[in-house]
Amino acid sequence: MKKIIAVDGPAGAGKSTVSKIVAARLGYTYIDTGAMYRAVALKCNEELGIGNWERNEDLMAEVLRNVDIKLDESGKVFLDGREVTKEIRTPEVSRGASDVAKSGIVRKRLTELQRDMARLGKVIMDGRDIGTQVLPNADLKIFLTASVEERARRRFDELKAKGLTVDLAQIEKEISLRDKQDSEREIAPLAQAEDAVLLDSTSLTIEEVVEKILQLAKEN
Ligand code: CDP
Repeated sequence: MKKIIAVDGPAGAGKSTVSKIVAARLGYTYIDTGAMYRAVALKCNEELGIGNWERNEDLMAEVLRNVDIKLDESGKVFLDGREVTKEIRTPEVSRGASDVAKSGIVRKRLTELQRDMARLGKVIMDGRDIGTQVLPNADLKIFLTASVEERARRRFDELKAKGLTVDLAQIEKEISLRDKQDSEREIAPLAQAEDAVLLDSTSLTIEEVVEKILQLAKEN
């Protein structure tokens, strides 16, 4: 059985949904690294104000100096001891996350934390740079993708189910922008590791993707 599984891919490809299920079936810990970038973005927004810090590494470094981020077993996210699971999912925080993610200082700190979390094994970690930067020695690497239209539709359904008012065209625009930012940034861009297995989930159900990953995890 593969002890460390890395799942990378663009926004809305289904990484967190399938990773959570795979973790539950294997008795592994699921680590959502996107939630960590989101928590840092939320803290920047709260302490510095939206629009005031996005290109300023010094300000981000200052905020990062005393940040405490914890993920618990049930998927709850804590920022400085306060639960922020829901707050980090707003479009504002999504945009901010993509901004903090460009900062080398932020990435270095979060990468260290993520490696620490994976040290004991039996983990499935998802993000953008897990197979390429954070855990280059992972036993199994998946690159999960889907068409932009399909990813926007999924995100739309997800936000609507949470009771948020959303516009499909706007979401598609935001996802395309985030894809561009994530894959074109200089440090640790979104990329498929050479030894990753490519899974296109556009026309696959969640269960089909889960099954494929479980199969790969069980192979020797
Ligand atoms: O859930 P969704 O796919 O929308 O995004 P996420 O996984 O929560 O990540 C939010 C943002 O954090 C992404 O757009 C990336 O810019 C950044 N991120 C990253 O740079 N590296 C990671 N390992 C995880 C997230």
